[in-house]
Amino acid sequence: MSLCLSLHADVRDTWHQPDKVMDAVGVKPGMIIGEVGAGHGYFTFHLSRRVGDSGRVYANDIASRALASLRRKAESEGITNIETIVGEIEDPLLPEGLLDMVFIVNAFHDLAKPVMLLNNLVPSLKPDAPVVIIDRDPSKFRDPAGHFLTQEEIREKIERSDFELDHIETFLPQHNIYVIRVAKPEGCGIQNRVYGVKAAVDGSGLPKASGHHGSRDQLCRLGVCRFNVHL
Ligand SMILES: C[S@@+](CC[C@H](N)C(=O)[O-])C[C@H]1O[C@@H](n2cnc3c(N)ncnc32)[C@H](O)[C@@H]1O
Repeated sequence: MSLCLSLHADVRDTWHQPDKVMDAVGVKPGMIIGEVGAGHGYFTFHLSRRVGDSGRVYANDIASRALASLRRKAESEGITNIETIVGEIEDPLLPEGLLDMVFIVNAFHDLAKPVMLLNNLVPSLKPDAPVVIIDRDPSKFRDPAGHFLTQEEIREKIERSDFELDHIETFLPQHNIYVIRVAKPEGCGIQNRVYGVKAAVDGSGLPKASGHHGSRDQLCRLGVCRFNVHL
C-alpha cells in the first residue's frame, strides 16, 4: 500500500473508529452483513475481519470498477469472506432473507433514490435486523457546498421509508450513526417485513413471497398485519 493510501486509511480510522462503531452496533463473528455503496471497501475490510471465516460480507455498489478494485485487494490478501454485488440505483440486489445487518457508510447522501433503496433492503433482512447508516453531519464540520444531509433530512427520508429510527449514535467527530429497523405497523405488533401485498391484492389468501412489499399503511389497510411471515 502506498504511503498516501495508508495515511488516508489512518485519517479515516480517526473519523470512523470502525472497531468502536462495530462494538456499538453489535457486529459479531459469524454474522452475515450487507454493505450498500461499499466503494473500494474501506469499511468492508473492517467488517470482514470482525465477522471472520464463519461470517460473510456482501459488498454492493453501482460502480463495478470500485468493486473490482475491492475484489483485487481481497484476493491479494487471501480474504475469502467478501462477495461483491453490482446493484441497481434503487435496488442493491442483496440476497434475500440472509442478512443480520446492513451498513451504508458514507454513501447515503449520494443515493439518488434513498427511500426506494431502503425499502428494497427489507426482503434481504432477517427479522429485526438493523440497517446502520453512517453519514457525515454538516453541523459537525464546514460543508459550504451543502453536499451532505442534515440530521433532519436523513430522519425525513427514514420516515418516508418502511423503516423507523431505533437510535442515533453521535460519538464520531464528523459522522452520525443512524440505526434503523423495519417499522412495525401501528397496532400490529409485528414487523413490516411481510410479503403480503401481492397475495392480498390477488386474493390468493395467504401472503406469499413476492419480492415486493408495501408501505406500513398499505399493509395495515390490507389487514396483512394479521400475518407474521418471516421468509
Ligand atoms: C463517497 S463513496 C463511499 C464509499 C465507501 N463506502 C467508503 O466509505 O469509502 C459513495 C459510494 O456510494 C456508491 N453509490 C452511489 N449510489 C449508489 C446506489 N444507488 N447503490 C449503491 N451504491 C451507490 C458510489 O458508487 C460510491 O462508491
